[in-house]
Amino acid sequence: MVKNTATSVVTIERYIIEQERLYPEATGELSGILYDLALASKMIANKVRLAGLADILGAQGTDNVQGEAQQKLDVISNDIIKKAVDHGGRLCAMASEEEDDMILIPDHFKRGKYCLLFDPLDGSSNIDVNVPVGTIFSVLKKTSPGVEAQLSDLLQPGYKQVAAGYVIYGSSTMLVYTTGQGVHGFTLDPSIGEFLLSHPDMRIPASGRYLSVNEAYEQHWTEPVRALIRRYRGMDGKRAAMNGRYIGSLVADFHRNLLGGGLFAYPANTKSPKGKLRLLYECNPLAFICEQAGGAAIDGTQRILDIQPTELHQRSPYFIGSKNDVDIAVEMLRAP
Ligand code: AHG
Ligand code: MN
Ligand code: MN
Repeated sequence: MVKNTATSVVTIERYIIEQERLYPEATGELSGILYDLALASKMIANKVRLAGLADILGAQGTDNVQGEAQQKLDVISNDIIKKAVDHGGRLCAMASEEEDDMILIPDHFKRGKYCLLFDPLDGSSNIDVNVPVGTIFSVLKKTSPGVEAQLSDLLQPGYKQVAAGYVIYGSSTMLVYTTGQGVHGFTLDPSIGEFLLSHPDMRIPASGRYLSVNEAYEQHWTEPVRALIRRYRGMDGKRAAMNGRYIGSLVADFHRNLLGGGLFAYPANTKSPKGKLRLLYECNPLAFICEQAGGAAIDGTQRILDIQPTELHQRSPYFIGSKNDVDIAVEMLRAP
């Protein structure tokens, strides 16, 4: 009798194909985008890992290499992603945190029916202190008529996303994504250069252990936000105190909360009246993932995924994480 030699090793490529097979009408274009992003992530991981070396090398050169290296890494990551996806014939447009305007697919490439929005390097101010950084991406389907993309194709509410994901360049490199069928995590095995399924069907605990907020802005918050943060700290006796954990890389803070349960808050403040985080390529993709994992995300008055965008780089206040803790925010921030 032939022994079943099926391996338990599931590469991201195999997983994407198996997911695609669940949809007979699938054309494989979305799968192709996810492959390309997985490749781009490996290339960015290499650059991020070498940043320290660049610093050391930089120490023999000009003092500002580190600063340039930081900006360079944002730009290098941006270019890696664009070059990985622009020729596959699956996209009609892109938008990046690093570029002011919509990025059209070069004329000599076939256009597709999807749009890709991304933050190529999130938390980049942390590169020089070796703190985890990330990449965030969001995929929308073109809605405007004709082959050429319109800005309206990018300015869709988050519930229209067909896929979203992030990569965290931490102690290991992980890619986490959803296509609306749950959240799945893959860990890069650098010895073979493959992302392997390590966290199938990720679920965020209903109540959080961690509170992630930059308390330096406390005096700039509204009083209801201050009262909410006091609730999470256990100061009004209505909720057990959460542990404070704030890395300053949204992807790293979100990933820890996804695994352990938690609440990340970046409220509006007098310095950033609309909040700091960008709706289209930071808030929306992580909100899609969080909801798919059983969590929630609001801007303080409404569900993040329901917000109708008006500008490519618009910002939003952000409360995301464990469902019970977001519900506390809904209750305490509701207009009186
Ligand atoms: P980016 O590096 O892409 O600009 O994002 C940085 C963001 C986010 O990663 C993080 O949560 C936030 O900035 C931290 O902001 P503060 O330093 O103001 O807390
Ligand atoms: Mn960012
Ligand atoms: Mn960024």
